[in-house]
Formats: sequence, structure tokens, C-alpha cells
Amino acid sequence: MKYVIGNWKSNQNITESLIWLDQLAALHPKFSTETTIILCLPFTDIASFNHKIADLGLPIISGSQNVSHLPPGKHTGEITANMLGELVSYCIVGHSERRREFGESSEMVAQKARLLLENSITPIVCLDTPYMDEQIKAMFNFDVDVSRCFFVYEPIDAIGTGKPIDPIDANHITSQIGFLTDNSAPVLYGGSISSDNAAAFTNQNRIDGVLVGTDSLEPTLFASIITSLS
Ligand code: PGA
Repeated sequence: MKYVIGNWKSNQNITESLIWLDQLAALHPKFSTETTIILCLPFTDIASFNHKIADLGLPIISGSQNVSHLPPGKHTGEITANMLGELVSYCIVGHSERRREFGESSEMVAQKARLLLENSITPIVCLDTPYMDEQIKAMFNFDVDVSRCFFVYEPIDAIGTGKPIDPIDANHITSQIGFLTDNSAPVLYGGSISSDNAAAFTNQNRIDGVLVGTDSLEPTLFASIITSLS
């Protein structure tokens, strides 16, 4: 199985997200039973998006982009894994933007992953080489079952720049992530993925899919990525 994960980041309100779905459906991308499509949305879009994918019969699974590292309780404004359990099957954790802008540590990311698994949500753990070992170690320290997670190698310099790294180099790092996690979990690549390069990454023997930021926002571009992998 291969995976395409979209990450809208902090873009699209409810209305825009529903228009996006109509536009994607009208493009008739070539969905394949060998490729799972996951779209990670802002919290506010998820409920109406779920209704609409069911109405349109689209094979897309919704995910979120973050979750609280705390359990339910007195934490004003936090969205817990328990709340998300009714809405999503996947959740991105540890994106480098959250590390940089919100000071997230490897321990917090491991706590999030643990709470997600307790609520039957698959954590999609983003990694870059400077903290890859530390992050995976923290997961083991917090008793996170890494075989139930997804991992994504996202070199910071390749994010949003239009300059992905060489797929062979990416395969080298995803193999290392596989080695550190007992080769038990899917390992993906993210960073300037487009329809022109997605297959070059998924054709590598240790890359199980791609995480797409910028090109997931435009239905035509996302549809061509889906079609390019079918
Ligand atoms: P990009 O973003 O596709 O725009 O490089 C990837 C990501 O940050 O997840």
C-alpha cells in the first residue's frame, strides 16, 4: 500500500474546504485501491468535510494536523485526542513548523502520539535528521507502539521551496528511520512534492508514500498527484 497525505496547514475555511471537494470530485482523479489518500485539515473543517466526502463517495480519509499533548481536563482551548477520536483516523504530529513556531519538543510529540494511539488515531510523526534519533528515542521512552505510527522524513530545506531532495537520498534516510523503528511502520517523504516527482519517490524501495503541503491546496494539482500514482 502507498499513501498520499495532504497537509493544508492553516488554510481553507469550511466553505472553501467544501468547494475544494466539489472541484476535486469534478476532476475525476484516478483513485487506486493500492493508494490510500489522507487529507489533514484544520480542526474547524473536519466535521463538514467528513459529511461531504461521504455524500460524494470519495475515497479520502480525513486527518488533523495537531492534537493536545494533554488529556481531557482544565486546559482552556486545547483539542484533545479524545475529541478527535470521533472525527479522524490520522493526525500529524511534530511538524517542523510546530517545533519552530510553537516550541514543541520531542517529549511533547511522543506524548501526543501516545494519546492518539489510546484513542485509535494513527500518529503521522514528522522527522528531520537533526532530531530524528532523539524523537524516536522519546517515543520508546513514552511507551509509544511505533508499529502503529506512520513516519515522514521531511527535510526542512525542502519544505515549501519547490526543491525536493534527491529521491535516492530520501530513500537512504527513510531506510534509517525504518531501521530505528524495527521496520514495522510505513515511512514516507515530504518536501516540495508535485505530480512531476511523486512517483520518483514512491518508486524507491523504502518510501511508502508522500506528504504534500503546497500542492494539496489546489484541487487540480492534488488530483494530478493522485493520478500520477495510480
Ligand atoms: P510542501 O510542504 O509540500 O509545501 O513542501 C510539505 C509539508 O510541510 O508538509
